[in-house]
Amino acid sequence: MALQIRPFKDTDAPDLVEILSRNGQYDHPEVEAPESMKRAAACPAVVFLVAEDDSRPIGFVRGIYDGARALIHLLSVHPDHQRRGIGRELVRRIGREFRRRGAPGTAVTVTERSAEFWRKEGFTRLPVFLMLASFD
Ligand SMILES: CC(C)(COP(=O)(O)OP(=O)(O)OC[C@H]1O[C@@H](n2cnc3c(N)ncnc32)[C@H](O)[C@@H]1OP(=O)(O)O)[C@@H](O)C(=O)NCCC(=O)NCCS
Repeated sequence: MALQIRPFKDTDAPDLVEILSRNGQYDHPEVEAPESMKRAAACPAVVFLVAEDDSRPIGFVRGIYDGARALIHLLSVHPDHQRRGIGRELVRRIGREFRRRGAPGTAVTVTERSAEFWRKEGFTRLPVFLMLASFD
């Protein structure tokens, strides 16, 4: 396998939507559709990395460093390529990039089903939870 990790390109978007859909992570197209991915990638605070194998995206990670805190928003590896170390490599690469930019540490928003993966990568659970509101 010729695995490469590189920055997101706009042409990746349909493949990444497919990966999210296969993983049951495409519940909010308003923030995950191709146009949203392209806007996020254009934001200088965002780090958006894609793992590709033989020129085909097979996973990605996206997060933001705002100058003080670094947060991973999304990580997804194609089901056919899981448990081969790709998720780990994506997390290490984005973590190192945040560190290079000045972040003292990296946080992540997770669901219960992947909590063990994050624990193995050295993340510890904090007593916080995510809340959401929509403003007119
Ligand atoms: C969670 C996910 C990103 C892990 O990616 P991956 O490439 O399969 O993980 P890796 O192969 O790098 O695994 C690293 C370690 O975590 C373990 N691991 C991976 N997924 C796991 C899971 N869901 N539960 C428990 N352990 C897990 C692996 O066994 C490995 O451990 P080891 O080194 O002791 O063998 C991937 O399974 C995925 O995309 N899942 C669906 C979407 C999701 O839950 N995303 C995260 C929410 S933001």
